[in-house]
Amino acid sequence: MSADRKMMRVLKGETVFPPPLWMMRQAGRYLPEYKEARKEAGSFLDLCYNPDRAVEVTLQPIERFGFDASILFSDILVVPHALGRDLRFEEGRGPLMTPITVGEIEALHAEAFHVNLEPVYETVRRLRQKLPQETTLIGFCGAPWTVATYMIAGHGTPDQAPARLFAYREPEAFKKLLSILADQSAEYLIRQIKAGADTVQIFDSWSGVLDEASFEAFCVEPVAQIVRKVHEIYPEIPIIGFPKGAGALYATYREKTGVAALGLDWSVPLSQAVELQKQGPVQGNLDPLRLVVGGKALSDGVATILDALKDGPFIFNLGHGIVPQTPIEHVEAMVRQVRGEMG
Ligand code: CP3
Repeated sequence: MSADRKMMRVLKGETVFPPPLWMMRQAGRYLPEYKEARKEAGSFLDLCYNPDRAVEVTLQPIERFGFDASILFSDILVVPHALGRDLRFEEGRGPLMTPITVGEIEALHAEAFHVNLEPVYETVRRLRQKLPQETTLIGFCGAPWTVATYMIAGHGTPDQAPARLFAYREPEAFKKLLSILADQSAEYLIRQIKAGADTVQIFDSWSGVLDEASFEAFCVEPVAQIVRKVHEIYPEIPIIGFPKGAGALYATYREKTGVAALGLDWSVPLSQAVELQKQGPVQGNLDPLRLVVGGKALSDGVATILDALKDGPFIFNLGHGIVPQTPIEHVEAMVRQVRGEMG
């Protein structure tokens, strides 16, 4: 059943053409129907924790574009929120948290973790019932490093300097934080799979700001810990890793973490992507700004990627999330081109 889904076949190593496609952040502010639901829900977190609304917005891009995969609508920061950290989203400012201290890392409490996240599991259960049979359902979590950067700084920063400084100054506490996040994130993914997710993606959006030794210790090791724990319960579920900005370290990331597939950001050269594809499925990697501009900038970008990666296991996606100013017609044009429905 789930093994027949196009994206699942690719995740198991099959070459399928035209490739399955979906977009990171496919439910979001570029869609008028999302903005409408968001207004009615009140806050962004209310949207994430209300299964009726979360299901509705998750399905919006599937109904509009017929993507091959649907990603649960939630956020990576619900994990620290469920561990008792405060979290707010302010219009135009992104996430805001109270920066965590060394003492507070010791005091993180996981007792209510699954109770707090029950609305997310309920959303996954309902999605699996409502989605078309052929659509893959993707669950997700943030990688411990990426989640920790927001817990430490309290907000987004251009280079995650606060988290890097904290990691070097307080190595023991930082290691503890990553380990707690890895354990809880593994449990979170296991529950999503139990609720009906076919696969899960681990978003390591800030892995590109680390030196080699820190990449190994902060990105590779905690993600390997998550993959091990999930595979103890669900050995057959393929996991997608997205270590954005990992550059030359992408290959190591797959080998050492055990993720089945790699999400590639748009800076990965296609020659490197082809090499990575020889080791297993790859996903990506259109520059989201080509999708903003459309026309030749878009069609050239799509054509080059399809041509380079068509002969191996490949999932078409963007190299990072779609941005709010993207015109919907450009998404439609991209979908037609990937599916070979042009001209
Ligand atoms: O991809 C999807 O459609 C599923 C939903 C999803 C969201 N966030 C919804 C969201 C996913 C997979 C995420 C992951 C996420 N969240 C990441 C990793 C991926 C990435 O983009 O790097 C990170 C770092 C976050 C933390 C976060 N959440 C930030 C930095 C922001 C602000 C930036 C922004 O786009 O506003 C958010 C908010 C957020 N998460 C929105 C959405 C739809 C926008 C909130 C709104 O509607 O106002």
